Parts: sequence; C-alpha cells; structure tokens
Amino acid sequence: MRVLVAGCGYVGARLAEVSAAAGATVFALRRSQVAPPAGARGLRADLTDPASLRGLPEVDAVVFAPTPDARDSAGYAKTYVDGANNLARELIERGRAVRWIHVSSTAVYESEAGEWVDESTPCAGEGFRARRLFESEAVAAAHGHRSVALRLGGIYGPGRAGILRRVASGEARVRPRYTNRIHLEDAVRAIAHLLKLESPADCYVGVDREPALEATVLDWVAERLGVSPPEREGGGAPRGKRCRSDRLLASGFEFRFPSFREGYGALLLKRSRRSA
Ligand SMILES: NC(=O)c1ccc[n+]([C@@H]2O[C@H](COP(=O)([O-])OP(=O)(O)OC[C@H]3O[C@@H](n4cnc5c(N)ncnc54)[C@H](OP(=O)(O)O)[C@@H]3O)[C@@H](O)[C@H]2O)c1
Repeated sequence: MRVLVAGCGYVGARLAEVSAAAGATVFALRRSQVAPPAGARGLRADLTDPASLRGLPEVDAVVFAPTPDARDSAGYAKTYVDGANNLARELIERGRAVRWIHVSSTAVYESEAGEWVDESTPCAGEGFRARRLFESEAVAAAHGHRSVALRLGGIYGPGRAGILRRVASGEARVRPRYTNRIHLEDAVRAIAHLLKLESPADCYVGVDREPALEATVLDWVAERLGVSPPEREGGGAPRGKRCRSDRLLASGFEFRFPSFREGYGALLLKRSRRSA
C-alpha cells in the first residue's frame, strides 16, 4: 500500500513509522523541512496552497491529520476544510479515488451535560470547532474518495503526558467534568485498522473504553505517584460528554490501552525506570 500522511506531527509521524515498518510505502507531508519519520519519504508542501500539491506521488490512501495554525474559525476553515479540499481535488483530478482516513475529533460533539455520545449523535453544534470539523469530514467523499472520519478524543502518550507532571508538582486542578482520551499507540493502530477494513462505515468514535471524571483520572495518578489528590475547582453536576467507541470495537479493533489505567500506568512505569 502507498500511503500519504498529510500533516505529519505527533499522530502522523508515528503512523508513518508504524506503516513503513509494516511494509507500506509512506509519504510524510508537512510544511517544515524536518527529517521524515523512520522508513518514510518526506514531502514538503502546504495543504492550503494548491500549487504546492502538484506533483504528489500516486497513492492508494491518505491519512489527513494536520492541525490549524490559528485556533479560530478562519484557521479551522483554512486547514481542515480548504486543506482537505485542495488535496482531495488534486488527487481526484488524476482520476484516482483513494481510501481517505480523516483524523477528526470528538469536538464535533458539543454536548456538555455529561451525556453519552456515539456516531448516531447529531453533530449540530454552533461553535466553530464542531462546525468546521464536521464540515471537513465531508470534503473527501464529496470529491469521490472513500472517506472515513475517525473522531479522536484527547491524545496522550510519550511526550504528551503533562498531567503526570502537573499532578506530581501539585499544579493540577480538578474540575467536575468527564474526559475522553486515547493513547497515541491506539490512535495510530485505529487508523491502520481503518486503512485495511474492507467496508468501513463513514465515521468512528476513537476513544478508549472508559470515559472518566477528571477527578477519577487525576486522583488515580496522584495515588500512583504517592502525592496528595489535586485540589477541586468549581462544583455542581459533571459537565462534558461521555464518548462511546462501540462501533470501532465491533469492527474488530482491540485496544491495547482500554482505559487511562493501562495508558498512564505504562507511562508511569517508564517514568519510574528513567528516574531509578
Ligand atoms: N492532539 C489531540 O489531543 C487531538 C485530539 C483529537 C483530534 N486530534 C486531531 O488529530 C490530528 C493530528 O493531531 P496531532 O496532535 O498529531 O497534531 P500536531 O502534532 O500538531 O501535527 C500536525 C502536523 O500538521 C502539519 N501541518 C499543519 N498545517 C499544515 C499544512 N497547511 N500543510 C501541511 N502540513 C501541515 C504540521 O507540520 P508543519 O507545521 O511542519 O506543517 C504538523 O506536523 C489533528 O487533525 C487534530 O485535530 C488531535
């Protein structure tokens, strides 16, 4: 398989590495001139500049995973919607539809009352994040590609485990809210799984099996670190949402880190080995 990873950062670079190690030919596209991930070929281009996308290699699949420069409506529109449009058009104009994994976010759901959400929940949010992400999920299919959106929760893993430091230092504060997350390795494994799935649905929620109150996660980390539980901030009924990944599981995917316990447990073990 020839895969183009469009936006090659935390998730994209690891996906590129894993896919190349599994035998795929991987093209890692980003704007900066940095060394490509191991086994991948680097491509320097800007998704928001159609001219820079001319001459891309022929591929069977795209993993679309850039992050906007500006966290506002125009920034989201430029990277997620225009960026997807530019790449999808460029590839289809060569007469080739590809499998397109659109790395999206559970931010498409604006639910804030602690309710459960899944792929059947309407994405009717008013905020720019939800609207632009949802809009971008539809772009590749509109150009004729076989597109699948993967709505990831908060991604954590090596190099992105700030809560361990904040709990250890006593800086962490706990708000009454539900949190949904996925370990980097499972996010990458889920993308690889969807790239191979014969007849995927049009979207999947990509979170681990245990949406958890922030207090549950941070108190567990504090206990494992042997420090005091973090201070509480605010009160009332928990806010946020609880995302359900049953569809991903039913498609044959297995989580290596089914909850924060396995995920942060592995990171804590690494941390204690480093400091031993
Ligand atoms: N991080 C999370 O917790 C989280 C949660 C849910 C969903 N997601 C989604 O997952 C995806 C990947 O997240 P991430 O954490 O891996 O992001 P990241 O580490 O910020 O990486 C994004 C990559 O995209 C490249 N990029 C940005 N704009 C580009 C453009 N116009 N043209 C080409 N490349 C561009 C950046 O490299 P250059 O600057 O060199 O171009 C960077 O390598 C994003 O779509 C994000 O919304 C993330």
